[in-house]
Amino acid sequence: MSTNYSEVFQDTDAVEKYEHVTYAPGSYASRISDRQGAYLRTMVVREFGPNRPVHHDFACGTGRAIRTLHGLVREAHGYDTSAEMMAKAAEVGSQAQWHLVAADGPVPDPVPAGAPAIVTMFRLLLNVDDEVRDRALAFAAKALPGHGDGLLVVENHGNAGSVRHLRARRHAGDRWFAELSHKQVAALLDRHGFEVVARRGFSMLTPSLHERRLARGADAVLRRLPGTGRFAVNVLYTARRKK
Ligand SMILES: C[S@@+](CC[C@H](N)C(=O)[O-])C[C@H]1O[C@@H](n2cnc3c(N)ncnc32)[C@H](O)[C@@H]1O
Repeated sequence: MSTNYSEVFQDTDAVEKYEHVTYAPGSYASRISDRQGAYLRTMVVREFGPNRPVHHDFACGTGRAIRTLHGLVREAHGYDTSAEMMAKAAEVGSQAQWHLVAADGPVPDPVPAGAPAIVTMFRLLLNVDDEVRDRALAFAAKALPGHGDGLLVVENHGNAGSVRHLRARRHAGDRWFAELSHKQVAALLDRHGFEVVARRGFSMLTPSLHERRLARGADAVLRRLPGTGRFAVNVLYTARRKK
């Protein structure tokens, strides 16, 4: 899946669709992104205080995480296999240094910008194979060599323990329908010396359920209950290198 997946985002129509349809104002994805942004910004201020981190955004795409953390970080670096996605990132106002990386081969080197650092990895892990997942996490481990060096935040937008799982049978054999469980994410992080320090859910709904106003209301209530991140469709995991 890895080669095809990286090729998908080298198509200008796919880039346009990602930025202007998937992330159109008010869309399912952009509402989740807004909530994630508020959460991330609060976390960065709380965890790093005045000692602003350098931001490494792996699989940065059009720079969603980079725009979110702009002003709270010392410098930002976006890494991606798609020059087209990074060109769009710059066009829509994301401010960072852009680094084109290969889809496979040796693990890319983060720019040596020192600690503390925050590494983000949004909407990558779900749809790629284990090799790409491991390579991405190996990149994060290079950027965060020690426990005190900063934080890694990864997104799982297809939690296997959520209502989305009801679609799994219908999509059996469909290579574009993937799921990741909390256990799989924790195991992946663990393999690279990370431990999960926080897990937060950002929607209990699938895109089709999100179309229903009543469901959106219920989601807003449910998301406030403690522990419901376990059943969320969309989840962020924050991790540190183990001591
Ligand atoms: C769904 S987009 C997510 C973009 C951005 N992180 C976000 O959440 O909006 C997936 C991104 O992963 C990039 N990508 C695909 N394969 C990759 C790989 N092997 N290494 C790094 N980036 C990759 C694609 O070019 C694309 O920009």
